[in-house]
Amino acid sequence: MAIKWTPELSVGVENIDSQHKIWFEKADKLFEAGKSGKSKDYIVQMLDFLDDYTKQHFRDEEAYMTKINYPELAAQKTAHQNFIGELSKIKMEYAKSGGNISLIINANQMIVNWLTQHISNMDKKIGTFAKTL
Ligand SMILES: [Fe+2]
Repeated sequence: MAIKWTPELSVGVENIDSQHKIWFEKADKLFEAGKSGKSKDYIVQMLDFLDDYTKQHFRDEEAYMTKINYPELAAQKTAHQNFIGELSKIKMEYAKSGGNISLIINANQMIVNWLTQHISNMDKKIGTFAKTL
């Protein structure tokens, strides 16, 4: 099953929502690469794309929260840091395993669960707060 952003995940801040959509696309590319048995180099590249995009997205989201004086910025930063740590663990383990596909497929479930939970439980509150300004 493809990994897709759905309207229920809308935060209500245009920039954040459009980045979240791209984020899901990057995760989906990685998952598809894993499922269809793409080469190790290709998967490493997809992992790198997801990693780069994640970092850029977190930077942008944190800048926005700073701009609007969002009260839960610290909790967001901690959550973001944790996820970046998880991603780098996956990258390391994949490299160490010499290209173990099941590692990518399992990682993908974790990634999708994280994205969905984080957006639903934390990011949506940014939009709610922004509406009160
Ligand atoms: Fe966030």
